[in-house]
Amino acid sequence: MIYKTHNTDETIELAAKLANEYPVPHTFCLKGDLGAGKTAFTRGLAKGYGYDGRVSSPTFTIMNIYECVNTEIHHYDLYRIADEDELYEIGFEAQEDNCITVVEWYDDYVHLFPKEGTTFVNIMRVDSNDDYRQIEVSE
Ligand SMILES: Nc1ncnc2c1ncn2[C@@H]1O[C@H](COP(=O)(O)OP(=O)(O)OP(=O)(O)O)[C@@H](O)[C@H]1O
Ligand SMILES: [Mg+2]
Repeated sequence: MIYKTHNTDETIELAAKLANEYPVPHTFCLKGDLGAGKTAFTRGLAKGYGYDGRVSSPTFTIMNIYECVNTEIHHYDLYRIADEDELYEIGFEAQEDNCITVVEWYDDYVHLFPKEGTTFVNIMRVDSNDDYRQIEVSE
């Protein structure tokens, strides 16, 4: 499916709605340039799974955890990970029981994600408008 959003809030609402379609456990792999809106999309997912705290970029922490009522969200940013060894050193899991896993900058590790239960989201700027995004969602 391809969606278009016209501002950050629309992206958050879209992700929150999509969250309802995917029961736990599930993994979301998010692709897009720097500043495309991967973390904004994650904010929406967190909202959809019932988390109302702060969602921030795990650029330096590599993983943030958001405790929800019925699940836990593991939000990864693999931008700074050098290779698969380092990935395992930090305890990376592509999918975990009772968890929602969200991964920014997954490209080098795409082979690690289960065919069943992973959704790929590609966020692209469109129309040279700062706030427009095309969001492609595929399984
Ligand atoms: N339609 C939109 N959807 C999502 N974000 C938008 C949109 N329009 C503008 N923005 C803005 O674009 C920026 C997206 O930043 P965000 O941190 O989510 O990107 P990112 O893809 O996670 O970047 P990084 O690769 O650095 O992790 C935010 O400032 C957000 O407000
Ligand atoms: Mg980000």
